[in-house]
Amino acid sequence: MILAPSILAADLSRLGEELRAVERGGASLVHVDVMDGRFVPNISLGPVIVEAVRRSCSLPPDVHLMIEDADRYLDAFVDAGAASVSVHVEAMPHLQRAIAYLRSRGVRPGVALNPSTPLATLEEILAEVDFVLVMSVNPGFSFQKFLPPVLDKIRRLARLVAERGLPVQIQVDGGVNRDNVRAVVQAGVDIVVAGAAAFGGGDPEAATRALIEAAGA
Ligand code: DX5
Ligand code: ZN
Repeated sequence: MILAPSILAADLSRLGEELRAVERGGASLVHVDVMDGRFVPNISLGPVIVEAVRRSCSLPPDVHLMIEDADRYLDAFVDAGAASVSVHVEAMPHLQRAIAYLRSRGVRPGVALNPSTPLATLEEILAEVDFVLVMSVNPGFSFQKFLPPVLDKIRRLARLVAERGLPVQIQVDGGVNRDNVRAVVQAGVDIVVAGAAAFGGGDPEAATRALIEAAGA
């Protein structure tokens, strides 16, 4: 299991320390949530934060774009140092072009799905992505509750990926904590995003370690 703490829930006045703490705790990626106040009802982080992540620790930035017109900003995030970038199928009329472009720029491309977006929307793109981000809350904020029906969606996606023999990883994002992390990993998740569960308790190093241990994989 790969753990990607989401800095949306971190104390941004101490970003460097927070990042180095989760790195010591065993995190493998840093999840950066980008919101535009249009696709989702919140405004958050941009390319300058991705650069700051690069300068503060050695963990690769994993950028989750929750924005409209994402095509206009792909270069900015790649140039800032993104290692992987996910775009939402709901916000991308020319999804294939964006995925192919990200790959041509040397980053790992992923597609993200809101909780109510069916897996069927992946049909024509699944073979071209490195990972699928399955939202387990409606995007916009950290500290929300995991939506239980998403577990079955993850299982069905894992089956689909296995049936097709694709090297596609499954990422889960939203409301994952020590109590449910094992269930999501058993359902087939490879990459776990954790905001509140990593940064919400005041000791991100211990919280990261505890999450990885609780995942048991
Ligand atoms: C939600 C974001 C998530 C969020 C996760 O819109 O995409 O990455 O920060 O935070 P928790 O783990 O607190 O739900
Ligand atoms: Zn996210």
